[in-house]
Amino acid sequence: MSEAWSASEPVPGVVIHQPADGFRYSAEVFWLVGLVLEGGMPSSALDLGTGSGVMPMLLAAHGVDAVGVDVQARWKEAWERTLQRSRVPGHVELRVEAVQDLFLGRVFDAIVCNPPFFAPGSGPEPADPFKAAARFEHHGGLRDFVQAGLRHLAPGGRLWWAIPTSREGELLAFLPASHRVCGGYRVGRRRSLVLVSDRPQQVEGFTSIPGRGEVVDRWYDLARKRPAG
Ligand SMILES: C[S@@+](CC[C@H](N)C(=O)[O-])C[C@H]1O[C@@H](n2cnc3c(N)ncnc32)[C@H](O)[C@@H]1O
Repeated sequence: MSEAWSASEPVPGVVIHQPADGFRYSAEVFWLVGLVLEGGMPSSALDLGTGSGVMPMLLAAHGVDAVGVDVQARWKEAWERTLQRSRVPGHVELRVEAVQDLFLGRVFDAIVCNPPFFAPGSGPEPADPFKAAARFEHHGGLRDFVQAGLRHLAPGGRLWWAIPTSREGELLAFLPASHRVCGGYRVGRRRSLVLVSDRPQQVEGFTSIPGRGEVVDRWYDLARKRPAG
């Protein structure tokens, strides 16, 4: 089926294509990218369930080499357009792959993941397949994303999640003894940004913040700021 794509330029030089009427990225992508950058510039990054590829593109705008994977082949056309029209210093690879089958043979300093929000059947399903696969776990669950993340995380690397606050306990339960939740943020009443690592980091415990304000603005600014030169 051929899609109608719309283009947006969240940062100069990054032209993201997404369905004109379908799943579209939201503020979380800026929060996660801002959090990664706040912790220090990684040399490489991986995005699990990348959708439009916006997070790898934003990271590549800062010079990070980034890989994004998504199970839905329908994103390919959008990615081609995005890669053709964008100008970023980092290298970006966007590939169709299910996280369950992901064995890239390399590890990453930073991993970001905004996985499908809910178990299938836990709410009304959108008819649009992009939206349905973004919201509901039709192609794999949180455990699959956790396992793929840990397989690809460098020692000392940082894995940032955006998940519903109601699923924090599940994420914790899927972690092996080698890794721990180092803390993060509860944004508003429903979203959590959770840092997982094999090392204790500076962020300890959870900070509750509003969905608008200084902290999220800081991440947003970090994600959107192009490095000088
Ligand atoms: C909530 S959306 C997030 C998209 C994008 N990262 C963003 O934040 O805008 C979740 C994405 O995960 C993808 N996905 C679902 N199951 C997957 C799987 N088993 N392997 C890889 N990607 C998957 C969906 O196609 C969807 O694009």
